[in-house]
Amino acid sequence: MDRGERRAQGLDRRSVVMGAVACCAAGHAAWAGPEELLPQKGDRLVLGDGAKAGQPVTLDGLPIGGDLVEAVAVDPQGVKREGSRFAKIILVRVAPEQVAEDQRAHAVDGVLALSAICTHQGCTISGWSHETRRLSCFCHHSEFLPAEGGRVAKGPARKRLPVLPLAKGEGGTLMVAGGFTTKPGPGPA
Ligand code: FES
Repeated sequence: MDRGERRAQGLDRRSVVMGAVACCAAGHAAWAGPEELLPQKGDRLVLGDGAKAGQPVTLDGLPIGGDLVEAVAVDPQGVKREGSRFAKIILVRVAPEQVAEDQRAHAVDGVLALSAICTHQGCTISGWSHETRRLSCFCHHSEFLPAEGGRVAKGPARKRLPVLPLAKGEGGTLMVAGGFTTKPGPGPA
């Protein structure tokens, strides 16, 4: 094998290794795509699943003590922001006084919106206990406190769950008041 062939083989091996690193890092990395794929200020929220998918999210539909609700942001042109799973939103409701003081500006009457993507390895969060006021991820059992800015209550996740600031819309609907407070998806604490 001459020098050229050895170099080519070395490069090939390196690109395989680099490719693998890129692949796995991308699988567990925080959001790095265009901001417009994520919820933006001025969007309205609609239900993300079930028989009522696409209908506006309303305060009446989110009773205190109720279940976690999946939501999707809709831009001012009426297009759902669902081009990336990092845009997924979950909503829960607690009593307004249970929301930490520094989070009250982001909540509407106790309703809190957060990223649905676990900050450990990116599973979709689907567990909610009103009793403990914790969201949980069933992949490796991390728990988060939505009323405390998505703080981690139990690992292995180390990074808080991004909060999506909310505003009240017409007729008790919910609007997005700003982008996620931190980048959605796995990442350093
Ligand atoms: S991906 Fe959620 S706890 Fe591991």
